[in-house]
Amino acid sequence: MKIISADFIYTPNGFLENKAVAFTDTIRYIDTLEVLQKKYPEAKTIKNKPNSVLFPGFINTHVHLEFSSNRTSLKYGSFMPWLDTVIEHREELVGACDNDVMRTECEAMLSSGISTFGAISSFGNELEVCEKTPQRVVFYNELIGSNAQYADMLYNDFLERIKASEACAKESKIIPAIAIHSPYSVHPVILQKSVTLAKQNNYPLSAHFLESQAERQWLENAEGDLKLFFEKYFKTSTPVTNIQEFMYAFDTYPTHFTHCVQANQVELDYLAQMGHSVAHCPRSNRYLGCGRLAIENLNLPYSIATDGLSSNDSLNMFDELRAALLLHNDIPIQELASRLLKSITSDAADILGLHCGRIEVGKLADFAIITLPEAPKRVDELALWSILYTKKVSSLYINGVKER
Ligand code: BEZ
Ligand code: FE2
Repeated sequence: MKIISADFIYTPNGFLENKAVAFTDTIRYIDTLEVLQKKYPEAKTIKNKPNSVLFPGFINTHVHLEFSSNRTSLKYGSFMPWLDTVIEHREELVGACDNDVMRTECEAMLSSGISTFGAISSFGNELEVCEKTPQRVVFYNELIGSNAQYADMLYNDFLERIKASEACAKESKIIPAIAIHSPYSVHPVILQKSVTLAKQNNYPLSAHFLESQAERQWLENAEGDLKLFFEKYFKTSTPVTNIQEFMYAFDTYPTHFTHCVQANQVELDYLAQMGHSVAHCPRSNRYLGCGRLAIENLNLPYSIATDGLSSNDSLNMFDELRAALLLHNDIPIQELASRLLKSITSDAADILGLHCGRIEVGKLADFAIITLPEAPKRVDELALWSILYTKKVSSLYINGVKER
């Protein structure tokens, strides 16, 4: 048993002042330091620096580690030119992304308080790094392939990658999961098979959905820049599915849909009705010119995620939250700051079905401790100060073990 105290503790019921948490790998008791020391006289006490705030470890639900070597290869500003450069540079980027590169990015996430992440894996290349990283990893094996001719082959490769992640799950914090690349890039037959597989095995399920205007135009009208793309690379001018058919394929299984920037109110209402959720990636959306997701109108749970370095400049969660504060400039800033912290803790944990994300008895002992630059003058502004003044956390615990 250990006891950790902090000036402020972020809980589902607001910030507690001058309290402490007794924990093993899970949270056992929350009270004052004095009470806990009396209750657990053998426990080691960990005291944080003055002006500390203890949060549950943060959850980054959507990241592509395999593209971590990108710095200037991919063209930012607009979705289609970006996608063209992905095709052009994919092999060299993935080739340059060795274990050291990916390990460095896992460490960048750790430094910013991320104790759990959802890794979208196109090739399975990051499996070893994810197996060894201290973080809990929802390992999303990605399914891609719109061409019916290659669908079986690609599906079998995907099954092999699931098996490999299953094998690692026994000895690590890996949780096998499934990601569907997108409506335009996955054939409906293998899409349906993979949703059934997710349901049978209780795998977390995710899909990119309505990220760009080009995607919407292609799915709705078989028009626009994606048409040129499919004509050029796939010799086809017909999409394999449409927006409704794609959404309906997930009707029976709650799914984490990434982006949804171009979804209309009817579609968002439908996702809400079916119990789905959204991964919102503010910097990625801005850098690829996809638009702003109106989070103030969302009536379904959402997380804030970094996406990969293929559409971002860092995997630091505080960088992402600061960007979100600026992108959503019409939402009152204190309210938004609180909402953002909830979206990377309790809401993200509920979305992924994990027992972390809350400072609450019985939850996993994942803690991100930050240090404010001075004693906060007003406690009701703590959420905002925490986001504005943190680049790196002071310490981080995962399953009760200090990792930073
Ligand atoms: C496809 O298989 O259809 C596809 C793959 C990558 C990007 C876009 C489409
Ligand atoms: Fe993504």
